[in-house]
Amino acid sequence: MTAERAYETPVPGWYGSVFEEGVQPEDPYTGFRELRETQPVNLTPEGTWRLSRYDDIQRLLRVVPSGVRLTNGLVPGQTEEVPGAGLFMLMQDPPNHTRLRKLVSKAFTPRAIEAWRPRIEAITEGLLDRVAAKGEMDLIADLALPVPATLICELLGVPVEDQTRFTEWTTTATHGLTTIRGLGDDAMRERVQEAGANLVGYFTKLIDERRGEPRDDLLSVLISAEEEGEERLNPLELLSQSIGLLIAGFETTIGLIGNGLTTLIRHPAELARLRAEPELIESAVEECLRYSGPITATVRVLHADSEFRGFTIPVDTEVVALLAAGNRDPEHYDDPERFDVARYRLGANTPPHLSFGGGAHLCLGAHLARLETQIAIGAIVRRFDSLALCDATTEWGRSLFRVPARIPVTYVDRPA
Ligand code: HEM
Repeated sequence: MTAERAYETPVPGWYGSVFEEGVQPEDPYTGFRELRETQPVNLTPEGTWRLSRYDDIQRLLRVVPSGVRLTNGLVPGQTEEVPGAGLFMLMQDPPNHTRLRKLVSKAFTPRAIEAWRPRIEAITEGLLDRVAAKGEMDLIADLALPVPATLICELLGVPVEDQTRFTEWTTTATHGLTTIRGLGDDAMRERVQEAGANLVGYFTKLIDERRGEPRDDLLSVLISAEEEGEERLNPLELLSQSIGLLIAGFETTIGLIGNGLTTLIRHPAELARLRAEPELIESAVEECLRYSGPITATVRVLHADSEFRGFTIPVDTEVVALLAAGNRDPEHYDDPERFDVARYRLGANTPPHLSFGGGAHLCLGAHLARLETQIAIGAIVRRFDSLALCDATTEWGRSLFRVPARIPVTYVDRPA
């Protein structure tokens, strides 16, 4: 196959999504399937390579020499290091990445996250108590947003009451992952910069207030690492990790809870099965991640010439891993287009989905996202009957990721 042939592609854009706030294809999966079947190694007109088969994606993330920066240390699209930009661990290669990730990873181990279970349950039940009798709610505003937003605030040590102020900023800031590479238009770049400046102003004030008054939270852990000297964490890195964790910690989980519930409601037999067999909740959430996860892609830069299915892709080329396409690869999943809440039941041996990425940057918050979603979806399914979507199509939020803006539903409260 020649590179020219590879240009013809049924999937738009670089990520399989469109770089416009609030614009997401309702069904990117049909295009992903076509790409996986016809051009598993695909070159976009912009010169980006994209992989859509499970094995190729795993190889890119875990096997071939790759990172998130060019071999000269710069983020692709940049000609020089922009002071203060790209300092979040997601945009760093070793040794910086290893150092930054280690500083916060203790807070995200399965054991540390399990300790939050009672708090997540209390928040979830409290939110559902408020709407139970009404018979209608917005799954985003009334549940999917406040659960992760409250949790990441409490975990980091950010005042929960400031939530409404930074919800808007974080939604816009996700687009920074693409504007830092020179993608998107001027208006988008301006909005990302403004949101970033607001977040920097907010966190600078908060960190100054918290200095000398450490608490039992992640922000205090990061501040003490910074106070121990440049070797561990410099002031700009401290700001970037705090802001990055806040963004990573709730934007995506809103999408998982929202898309997961939408998918369940659209598959009434699966919803009924989960209600009858609540022990399937862990499997159901893995299936929601596989089938309709909020992040469809991640990117790596090759650190050596690498071959994928006969194409040699040169060093320092960006390669997009279409995670959502790999998640439906029939070489790994039986009947992959079917939503099956029992697919990941104990002993089923279903291969892990790719929705949390993989390799060195594998999502640090995966255990937290899973637990929040298991509790939120589990509670809705247990408490409410006759769940119905008011709208046939999803109204997407302004995030880069697949995060619904609103999901109005009706339901009948079950007697306790
Ligand atoms: C459904 C929810 C979530 C999804 C689908 C998700 C997905 C991802 C993905 C795809 C990556 C990039 C992985 C790669 O390129 O290999 C990532 C990285 C990351 N995620 Fe998540 N995430 C979620 C929730 C969270 C939460 C709740 C946190 C908590 C703070 C979090 C923190 C992070 C961090 C810190 C990184 C960067 C890790 C690194 O660079 O080493 N995520 N996530």
